[in-house]
Amino acid sequence: MSARKRTVVLISGRGSNMTALIAAASNPDYPAEIVGVISDRANAAGLGIAAARGIATKVISRADHSSKEAHDGAIDAALVSFGAEIVALAGYMRILGARFVEKWLGRMINIHPALLPAFKGLDTHARALRAGIRIHGCTVHFVTLDMDDGPIIAQAAVPVMVGDNEDTLAARVLKAEHRLYPLALGLVAEGKARMEGGRTVLAHFADDADNSTSVVMAPDPLREETDLEHLARITP
Ligand code: GRF
Repeated sequence: MSARKRTVVLISGRGSNMTALIAAASNPDYPAEIVGVISDRANAAGLGIAAARGIATKVISRADHSSKEAHDGAIDAALVSFGAEIVALAGYMRILGARFVEKWLGRMINIHPALLPAFKGLDTHARALRAGIRIHGCTVHFVTLDMDDGPIIAQAAVPVMVGDNEDTLAARVLKAEHRLYPLALGLVAEGKARMEGGRTVLAHFADDADNSTSVVMAPDPLREETDLEHLARITP
């Protein structure tokens, strides 16, 4: 296998997606290695989890920098010092500036808790419930200048169940996120998903004759969570 891609994860909080990426990368056959974790918040729970797994961590807080550009610049310098080839945003709660985004274009990815392009921004689960959609999920995409707008790499779907509240729905989506993000980072690290001309170009999969690519891009769609016929019977 060619060299594993050096990946740095940016977090602001809990770090459960970061943890899923670290777990996937603990397999030496996985095409990316997590070489560092950067948080803009000193109290991010994910920092302790990363450190406990032997990953280098850095806190780079906005308050320690005179401007947004200076903050972005410090993060960029840290990425360079880690030798980062890929940047994975995992619950990083700040908008990165144009200069930073352009520098890492095609090499920076993010996970969003909704099936983009629906529900960009915050409070996706509450908005999904209000909208009454029956299928929700998560998306990994390349990061571009507009928030939650970059080319989609992979998605996973989950049902919205009768009686769901924001917490139950968030938990179901999060479980899917933890499968999806390692899969999507693996595709990017292997060069099987590339950003080209503002779109994601997916490699041709050798075993695509049976259309398995779409299953790869959306792992276990619905299957694990529910019986579709049952869902159809109880869905108003
Ligand atoms: C996830 O739901 C992710 O999709 C969103 O922020 C949340 C981060 O959770 N961008 P965690 O820190 O990975 O647990």
